[in-house]
Amino acid sequence: MVNFDYQTPTRLIFGKGVVAEKLASVMAQYGKRVLLTWGGGSIKRSGLYDQVKEILKDKEVFELSGIQPNPKYNPSVLEGVKICKEQHIDVILAVGGGSVIDCTKAIAAGACYDGDTWDLLTFKKPTLAALPIVDIITMAATGTEYDPFGVISRTETNDKIGYCSKHTYPQVSFIDPTYTFTLPVKQTLAGVADCINHIMESYFCGEHIMMNDAFMEGAIKSLVKNVKIVLEQPDNYEVRAEIFYATTLGCNGIYCLGNSPSGWPMHGMEHALSAFYDITHGEGLAIVTPHWMRYILEHTTGELHEQVVERCTSFGKNIFGTSTAEEAIDAIADFYKSIGIPMTLHEVGIDDTRIGEMAKHVAELEGLDKAWVPLHEEDIAAIYRNCL
Ligand code: NZQ
Ligand code: ZN
Repeated sequence: MVNFDYQTPTRLIFGKGVVAEKLASVMAQYGKRVLLTWGGGSIKRSGLYDQVKEILKDKEVFELSGIQPNPKYNPSVLEGVKICKEQHIDVILAVGGGSVIDCTKAIAAGACYDGDTWDLLTFKKPTLAALPIVDIITMAATGTEYDPFGVISRTETNDKIGYCSKHTYPQVSFIDPTYTFTLPVKQTLAGVADCINHIMESYFCGEHIMMNDAFMEGAIKSLVKNVKIVLEQPDNYEVRAEIFYATTLGCNGIYCLGNSPSGWPMHGMEHALSAFYDITHGEGLAIVTPHWMRYILEHTTGELHEQVVERCTSFGKNIFGTSTAEEAIDAIADFYKSIGIPMTLHEVGIDDTRIGEMAKHVAELEGLDKAWVPLHEEDIAAIYRNCL
């Protein structure tokens, strides 16, 4: 078991009606001047925007809207930082999916820094402070409500980078599963695939303990079962709640304390797909997953190969009831097909024209040569080609 040093400062407030019950008292702790950040309008359609504005009626509220999926440095992060500095914002309330919350983390850090926020996001300069963040997360997917990460895209350079700092954990996250009743099927499925992949990126590693295996296998079994129910019953609270609980823990590291790191190879490869083509993150991950598994099964030798066989076999046996590593790969692919998520790059509008460019970008930026199963530029390109 490897050593760990773990702390998550975020307060989670989970359940039906928690915003009405506790948002006012939480916001009372942080001063009068609030930046409300949100996306393209789902919170207006659901009534959450009006509810939040009513709760904040004694505050001075400034707004940054229009934050897009795969949130953009320019304009969203830059505009948010500008508002925070000019209006002397005390706290940011982010309401929406992972993209809104990720963008808010970058804004919160940039607001406390005199130079170019990009310096912080690329770790050229340390993040020494950030404005407090409170969020109401409306999408069960990323786990950003319980982690310090923010993933920001810079369109002109095709960069999609993961940023983090101990200052960018949300202070308080409100998670009411009823908000996910309105999710389009595509986003429900992409969110589940994102979480399954977060867990897999923790499960597929060198050194691991039985307790973590059981924890992660249980979470994926719950997602596999519950996503099928939710496709038939989108407003089934208990099922939506269990999915949200799994996704909230998914990227926080708690599933794998004591395991050795995996190096996040599938995320490294997916981030280039969504940077170059602006596709939905969870769909990109679902496409890459079986092809990465098959590639590492076929291209490893010796002790590393034994580890890969063991991980694939245990994963399949304990989640899908399969017997061999190959059957486990077929099982995860068949599961994704059965729920209707795209399983080829062609289906999400990607052809082979930029594979070389993306593979080079990933090889240079993501450090996958140091992953549990090291991947070099030619390996990454081969996996992309297999995904076509
Ligand atoms: O913009 P609005 O109108 O709100 O609509 C959004 C958006 O179109 C909609 N939506 C969200 N909640 C809804 C809803 N529609 C109806 N009802 C609701 N309750 O869903 C669409 C997608 O939203 P988005 O926030 O982009 O989705 P998600 O939460 O999956 O976030 C994806 C981003 O997070 C990054 C991804 O790379 C991607 O940029 N990630 C962040 C991570 C983290 N911070 O830890 C880890 C992940 O691995 C991931 O990389
Ligand atoms: Zn993810």
